[in-house]
Amino acid sequence: MGVMEDLKAISEEAQSKVATADSLAALDAVRVAVLGKKGSLTRILRSMGSLSPEERPLVGKRANEVRSAVEAAIDGRKTQLADAELQRRISADAVDVTMPGRAPHVGTQHLISQIVEEMEQVFCGMGYDVIDGPYVETTYYNFDALNAPADHPSRSPRDTFYVADPTHPDPEREDRAVSDLLLRTQTSPVQVHAMEAGKPPIYMISPGRVFRPDTADANHLPQFTQIEGLAIDEGLTFGDLKGTLDHFTRAIFGKDRATRYRPHFFPFTEPSAEVDVSCGVCGGEGCRFCKGTGWLEILGCGMVDPNVLEMSGIDPERYSGFAFGIGAERVAALRYDLPDLRMLMAGDMRFLAQF
Ligand code: DAH
Repeated sequence: MGVMEDLKAISEEAQSKVATADSLAALDAVRVAVLGKKGSLTRILRSMGSLSPEERPLVGKRANEVRSAVEAAIDGRKTQLADAELQRRISADAVDVTMPGRAPHVGTQHLISQIVEEMEQVFCGMGYDVIDGPYVETTYYNFDALNAPADHPSRSPRDTFYVADPTHPDPEREDRAVSDLLLRTQTSPVQVHAMEAGKPPIYMISPGRVFRPDTADANHLPQFTQIEGLAIDEGLTFGDLKGTLDHFTRAIFGKDRATRYRPHFFPFTEPSAEVDVSCGVCGGEGCRFCKGTGWLEILGCGMVDPNVLEMSGIDPERYSGFAFGIGAERVAALRYDLPDLRMLMAGDMRFLAQF
C-alpha cells in the first residue's frame, strides 16, 4: 500500500534527521518539514479524502502514530541538547579548587594619617581634646577673628582659594570682594570656634586639611595637613608653651633632635615664634636637605593675642593662653628625611607601603 510506505519513509527520515540535529533550529526545521502546514505528514492527512473508506482509519491511525513518534523524538532530542549544553557550561566554569588563591591586598594607613594619630596621642596624653573644624570658612573665622588686618596679603586670591558665592551681585569679579567664603588656609579658625563654643579652661587640638593656591613642588603642596593647638587657662605663660612643644618634639622626633624657638610674627599671637628641629640628615652640620642651616622648620606658635581672646568673648585680664600650628607633611618629611613632599600625595605604593 503506497500511503503506508510513504508514512514509513517519512517516519524513518524524520527519526534519523532528529537524531543528528545539533541545534534547536535544526530540530525546528525537521518539525516544520514533517508537521508544518506544508509538511510531508500534513500533506498525507490532507489527501485522506481520496482514500477508500477501508483504508482511511488505518492510514489515519498510522499517521497519528507517526506524528506522536516524531514529536516525541524531537522532545527527546531537545532534552539531550539542553543536557549537553549544561554539561558544556559546567565544565567551562569549573573552578580548580586546588589552585593557590590570590591573596587579598591589605593596604596600610597613609603615613600622614599615622603621623596625625600619633600627634593626637601625644596631646591627648597631656589632657587635650581633639576637635574638628569646617574646611569651608568665612573670612571672619579665617582672618578677622584672628586679628589679620583688612589689607593682610594672605587675604589675596593669590594666597587664598575663595569659594564662589552665587548670591554675590557680581560673581564674575576676580577679587576677594566676590565672596566671604573660602577654603581655610590654616586650621587656626578652629581656635575661634573652640573659644566661642566653650568657656576656659580650653585644651584642644584640631587636625585637618588646609588649602592654598601654591604649585606643588618639593616643599609646597596646594593641600596639606595641619594640627592646630590651643590652650587657654588662668596663668599660662610662654614657659608652658615651650614645655608643651618640647615634650611634643621629643615624643615625635626622639630625644637626640634639638629644637630652637625663633622669633616670628603671626597676627593672632604675641609674642610669636617658629620652631625648628635639628636636621636629621646631617645632624645639624648643614646639608642640602636643610639648605645648609642645620635646622628645619616644623611649626608656628605664640601666646594668644589679647585681641583674639576678646573678639571671641574671653576676658584677657583673667585668661591667657598659647597656640600652635604644626604641618603634618613637614613632620613626616623631617622624621623620614623625605626629599620631596609630593611623595606624600602621589599614591605610589612602593613608597607608601614602607610605613
Ligand atoms: N596658622 C599658621 C600658618 O598656617 C600657623 C600657626 C602659627 C598657628 C602660630 C598657630 C600659631 O596657632 O600660634 O602658618
